[in-house]
Amino acid sequence: MATEPVNIFEYEQIARERIEQGHYDFIAGGATDEITIRRTRAVYDSIMLRPRMMVDVENRSMATTVLGQEIALPVMLDPAGNHGAAHPEAEIATVQAAGAMGTVMVLSSHASRTLEDVAASASGPLWFQQYFFKDRGLTLEMAARAEEAGYSAICMTLDAKIKPKRERNIRNDYVGAESPNYAQLDLGTHTWKFAADAPAGPSDIRDVASTWDDLDWFASSINLPVVVKGIMAGEDGRLSAENGAKAVIVSNHGGRYLDTTPATIEVLPEVVNSVAGNAEVYLDGGVRRGTDIFKALALGARSVLIGRPLFWGLAVDGSPGVAAVLELLRDELDATMGMCGCPTVESISSATIDTVSPLLASFPSPADFR
Ligand SMILES: Cc1cc2nc3c(=O)[nH]c(=O)nc-3n(C[C@H](O)[C@H](O)[C@H](O)COP(=O)(O)O)c2cc1C
Repeated sequence: MATEPVNIFEYEQIARERIEQGHYDFIAGGATDEITIRRTRAVYDSIMLRPRMMVDVENRSMATTVLGQEIALPVMLDPAGNHGAAHPEAEIATVQAAGAMGTVMVLSSHASRTLEDVAASASGPLWFQQYFFKDRGLTLEMAARAEEAGYSAICMTLDAKIKPKRERNIRNDYVGAESPNYAQLDLGTHTWKFAADAPAGPSDIRDVASTWDDLDWFASSINLPVVVKGIMAGEDGRLSAENGAKAVIVSNHGGRYLDTTPATIEVLPEVVNSVAGNAEVYLDGGVRRGTDIFKALALGARSVLIGRPLFWGLAVDGSPGVAAVLELLRDELDATMGMCGCPTVESISSATIDTVSPLLASFPSPADFR
């Protein structure tokens, strides 16, 4: 019997025993009925692969680029607050794993370590995630700090303006940790406690009034490329690119804000079409298998990102645990590409998937069943 977890679901089972209940529910849970979380998995499972034979798949490569930076596999590390809930080395452990695996880590502004400390431990490319603050000076100051520390892109999260209802957290009286990232800042009369990923309401320092003009202003005010996160409509993808974003992340925040949205993979093709090559398109949400990554690439994503699995890897084995989670996804994707007859990420196309049973093509009308 293998003693190591053999897939990401088993990582979660072990992590669940090691992470304190309140933290576990905060990480695993989502908004209200968690319908989006379940739908996200169900839709991946309903998409079928159509393998092609007699293709030379001896030399396979998962390498690609994001914003011109080479990554060894099309999987990046999502911004997620408070890795310290899963392991004492927190984001330091995570960033070492990202570097070892040759991919980008997007650091959450709600990290358990300062953005400067994480950058000092990085051996690969890093992006920094933040929000539009009511205080425009603070908005620019965070981006400038990230640039100064060596981050190469800023990821603006657009879908976290309004406080979500997370019933597990309410039951647990959960209070998230504050991030040291804001410790040196003079927050004046701002009343928001920086609980990871959970704004406190209308007195929040996040700018609930921000619009596309603010994105345009921000993108033209900083030196780094801007990535936007939380796009769930084709039109918003187009507007992102028109207002200066160089990449968009199709994301429903892992079902943690608005419940009953579509799965991200359902809206991915619409966003890809609407962006029309004017920005790169990535996807996150529920990616747990190499086949999920393959399906996202087949529908036009350049890369995916993973959130919760980072915590499961951290809880099981710190930095090597995060690397092991990425290795599992890498090996599953490699095998999927080989079996589907796609030796490179460029060769993965929608021709390799089906979303409705091919039986329908054979029996197009109900009369055929009589
Ligand atoms: C514990 C936790 C904290 C998160 N914190 C942030 C955050 O600070 N900023 C952000 O943009 N997204 C945050 N997210 C959302 C992730 O970036 C991502 O969209 C989501 O986790 C993807 O779904 P997955 O967990 O199913 O992979 C967080 C997610 C989790 C699970």
